Amino acid sequence: MTASSTAKPRTLQLGLVLHGVGAGWGDWRHENAVTDASVNFGFYKAQAQLAEQARFTFLFVADSVHITPRSSPHYLNRFEPLTILSALAGATSHIGLVATVTASYSEPFTVARQFASLDHISGGRAGWNVVTSWLDGSARNYGREEHYAHDVRYRLAGEHLDVVQGLWDSWEDDAMVRDKATGRFFDPAKLHRLDHQGEFFAVEGPLNIARSRQGQPVIFQAGASPDGKAFAAQRADAIFFHADSFEEAQAYYRDVKARVRAEGRNPDEVFLLPGFRPIVGSTEEEAERRYEELAALVPIENAIAALARPFNDHDFSQYPLDEPFPDLGELGRNSQQSTSDRIKQHAREHGLTLREVALWHARPRRTFVGTAEQVADEIQRWFEGGAADGFNFFEALPNTSLKAFVELAVPVLQARGLLRTEYEGETLRSHFQLPVPANRHTVAAAGSAFVREEAVAA
Ligand SMILES: Cc1cc2nc3c(=O)[nH]c(=O)nc-3n(C[C@H](O)[C@H](O)[C@H](O)COP(=O)(O)O)c2cc1C
Repeated sequence: MTASSTAKPRTLQLGLVLHGVGAGWGDWRHENAVTDASVNFGFYKAQAQLAEQARFTFLFVADSVHITPRSSPHYLNRFEPLTILSALAGATSHIGLVATVTASYSEPFTVARQFASLDHISGGRAGWNVVTSWLDGSARNYGREEHYAHDVRYRLAGEHLDVVQGLWDSWEDDAMVRDKATGRFFDPAKLHRLDHQGEFFAVEGPLNIARSRQGQPVIFQAGASPDGKAFAAQRADAIFFHADSFEEAQAYYRDVKARVRAEGRNPDEVFLLPGFRPIVGSTEEEAERRYEELAALVPIENAIAALARPFNDHDFSQYPLDEPFPDLGELGRNSQQSTSDRIKQHAREHGLTLREVALWHARPRRTFVGTAEQVADEIQRWFEGGAADGFNFFEALPNTSLKAFVELAVPVLQARGLLRTEYEGETLRSHFQLPVPANRHTVAAAGSAFVREEAVAA
């Protein structure tokens, strides 16, 4: 923690990625996998309740809006994030509910309304992962011939978020009078139009739903390119990222926290959460055996499919596997720019073949593989060593790794005081110890910034 922070106890912020049959192409074939998990409510509910029992901060549902026959099994047939999270709101009581919705292919009025609804349904547990979409086929599902360019997507996302957050403040917190005796339902002076006219959107407002007890949903972001990092540093409360090693995570962490500080924001109030795929065994041998099971789920055909994704599902079958990684020119720069740049750079620096690059990219790292104590040691090193404020948990072995992590590693993390044993409150903001943002119109009327601190403890 920096000197500017108050003495809030720091707890690991853990998210669970609800990823049905798994992130890879072969995961669904594992002996414990539930083959229809991505559209199986019972499966999602069991995972959500297990994560809540382990005091995870939030559930996260990723999304994209275009598939091809080469997409991974989970992507081919899965729930829409806000719909499944609304259902899970009723099956859980404390855990946060974070949904991906793309700014590039959605209307801010609809998005504001949907997240505000989830926030009310769940008692203040909603979060929005604002993405810009990298698959260019997304355009063709939304009546556009051309996908927006990378920089335009981030500009659009900024304006989209301005509109959504503006709409969320349509109603001041005490606007609803609901006085049966006088017949006064609301105070018109506390209802505000937005009247937004911008480059991409024209939205009058007001929004037809008020704020929840956490004020506004929490904003998540995962951009990793220079534009993406700038956007995240300006706007996000929590940021997802990928890192293969402690050193890589530390470098990203330092860079983004410095950007946050340069934006005049408190770096302790922006949470950096690398993805991780821990494999915990009751012995080292068991963890190793499970790691080998996982590696076996990624044969070269699947590794090639995984490699294609950050390059807009490019067809790599046209290149020889055992020759140097092909020169792809600008390919990938308008898709997942940061990841595709990183893959090209890794191939170049190490002089790798296509096969080697694909296996390096798709096969799991060994970073969080071991006994509960070994995995907890590594988590602690990242958490205390300025590399992470928590982690976003991807289930390495479907329907297996989460149970093992919760049973074996969570008690160790809790015994070390790294992970909460009880939730701090009932809203997602309270888990992050983030203040409830004041309604902008109330602030303007009061003439000074203030925060409803009491709601933090709610
Ligand atoms: C943990 C994590 C989760 C992500 N979830 C999504 C998602 O659900 N949908 C999506 O389109 N992109 C998702 N992304 C990708 C980012 O939105 C972004 O495209 C990627 O990090 C590349 O950033 P860049 O475009 O700034 O290079 C995710 C990234 C990470 C690290």
